[in-house]
This record gives sequence, C-alpha cells and structure tokens, in this order.
Amino acid sequence: MVDVIVAEGLTKRFGRLTAVDGVSFRVKRGEIFGFLGPNGAGKTTTVRMLIGILPPDGGKAEVLGLDVQEKPVEVRKRIGVVPEASNVYLDLTVWQNLMFMGELYGVPQSVRKAKAKELLEFMGLLERRSEKAGRLSKGLRQRLLICMALMHEPSLLFLDEPTSGLDVQSARQIRQMLQKLNKEGGTTIFLTTHNMWEAEELCHRIAIINHGKLAAINTPEELKATFTRLRTMEVQFDRPASADELSAILNCEVDYAGNRCKIHAENINDVIIQVADYARSRGLKILNLNVLQPSLEDIFLEIIRGGGAG
Ligand SMILES: Nc1ncnc2c1ncn2[C@@H]1O[C@H](COP(=O)(O)OP(=O)(O)OP(=O)(O)O)[C@@H](O)[C@H]1O
Ligand SMILES: [Mg+2]
Repeated sequence: MVDVIVAEGLTKRFGRLTAVDGVSFRVKRGEIFGFLGPNGAGKTTTVRMLIGILPPDGGKAEVLGLDVQEKPVEVRKRIGVVPEASNVYLDLTVWQNLMFMGELYGVPQSVRKAKAKELLEFMGLLERRSEKAGRLSKGLRQRLLICMALMHEPSLLFLDEPTSGLDVQSARQIRQMLQKLNKEGGTTIFLTTHNMWEAEELCHRIAIINHGKLAAINTPEELKATFTRLRTMEVQFDRPASADELSAILNCEVDYAGNRCKIHAENINDVIIQVADYARSRGLKILNLNVLQPSLEDIFLEIIRGGGAG
C-alpha cells in the first residue's frame, strides 16, 4: 500500500522548547490515522509541518509523494485542512464561504456550485446556505469548515480536533461523515483528537505523542493486546465478599460493588488462581469471572505517565 504521509525525524523548536522531537511515522492511503497526545504535546505543530505552513528545524515530511519543504504550495493544493482555529469568514454566508474556497483552490467555476451543493447536502447544511457563517452554532460552523476543506476533492484530509467542544450528537454526525468519506470516497484522514472513544471508533491506527516524542503507534487492538498488565478482572460471587480482605490477599487494588469485585492486578493469571482459592476457603461460589482488556484511555494515561508496554 502507498504511503501518503511520511514523516522522518520531524523536529520543531520554539526558542528553548523542542515542541516536536524527531517524530517519524507513515500513513497509508485509505487509512484513518489518529494523532493523540495531551495538551501541548506537539500535535498541532506536527500537523502544521505536514501541511507546509511551518518549516521544520530538522527531519523531513513527504505528503502525497511530494517533499513538503520543497513544494509546500503543491502539497496544500492537493490536501484538505480543517485547522484547530476556525478559518470561516464570519461575514460571508455559508454559500459564499464555499464559493470563495473553491476559487482559492482553483475549482473550475462550472463545477463549483454543484460541488458546494453536494457537500452541503452531505453535511446537512443545505438549508442554511444563505445564512452568515457568523450566525452558525459551533457544531454547524465545524461542518462548514469540513465542507470548505473538501471543495477541491482532496484525497487526504487533515483535521485538528474536529469534534472538540461539540455536543454528543454533532460530534457523532461528524464522525459518521468522516467514516463515510473514508469508506465511500477512499479519503485518507489524519486527525488529532482528545476523545479516546472517538479515536477507538474511527481510527485504523493511532499514534500517541508526548512531550514532542512519539510514544506509541499501532492499531487500537494491538495497543490493547500489548498492554496486558493493564487488564482488570471482574468477579461475581454468590454473596458479598470483603474487598479489603481480597485486596490484602491479592496484594492489589480491589474495587467493590455489591457481589462484584473489580481487581486491578499486573498478573491476572496468578490472581485468577488466588481468587479461586479465596472463594473456596470462604465458601463463596464464583458466578462469573471476566478478564477485561484495558481501554484506550487506560493505555493513553499509562503512556503519558511514562509506562511502557508489557
Ligand atoms: N508559535 C509558537 N511559538 C512558541 N511556542 C509554540 C508555538 N506553537 C506551539 N508552541 C508550543 O509548542 C508546544 C506544542 O504545541 P502544540 O500546539 O503543537 O500542542 P498540541 O499537542 O496541539 O496541544 P493541544 O492539545 O493543546 O492543541 C506547546 O508547548 C506550545 O505552547
Ligand atoms: Mg493542538
């Protein structure tokens, strides 16, 4: 499969701060690639280097086969960008914003209107086309931004926190549209997000950046399989058990709710045997026993605290 983004040792310094520190990764055509990291980790700075608006201090980026530093304008013509800070013209109507964007990207006049109509329909904004963008709610403005980024039918779309600050329904609609764009149009999507659940639902692969350095990169499933020590175990007894007693025996954290215990232990395999022994010694019956994979959020927090896989 073709790599549409290649980052090699990308580095950016702002004074004494190294905001992005030797970051390397590849994104394949047709992927939805999630770029995760805490505030200030270097996500937006990386995006800005990839889209050719910020020159790196070290390393290089190739986008759609073009060297970004050598051909920034060519790159920008071929990609769609939904930036972190909105670039909607508030005094223009929804329609005028799209016409302007089409003109900017050299979309032939003959197809501009049809494309705008198609996108507004796709994003559920057609009814609002004559309204000034400044009057749109945040979620609707975000949809307009996505329409604007798609006017020239880019095969690669960058989105910097596209659902940040949106209500549950608006965020979900945007996710569904991105999924559709990817599945039906084959658009490659690079997105940053703080929403772990969103990353898990949307992304084929995820990279986690922390203090400017890439800390992990994998599919959500592989990440979960790698961090086995973050698994938890849920046990249901036929009668209430003592969480404190269990915790002391197992030497690990035990949460308790009714007859259920949630056990956080590094070595689940050993714990299962100990729990069975405990139940037998107390005359308790085990009604249910589940080993739960860690959530992406568990893994994210572990990584940014500095924990490795295992
Ligand atoms: N133009 C700039 N001048 C100086 N420092 C900057 C500049 N742009 C970013 N930084 C700093 O670089 C670091 C990385 O910033 P960046 O915006 O890439 O983070 P981020 O991961 O996108 O964070 P967030 O989740 O808050 O959007 C931060 O410490 C930020 O303050
Ligand atoms: Mg950012």
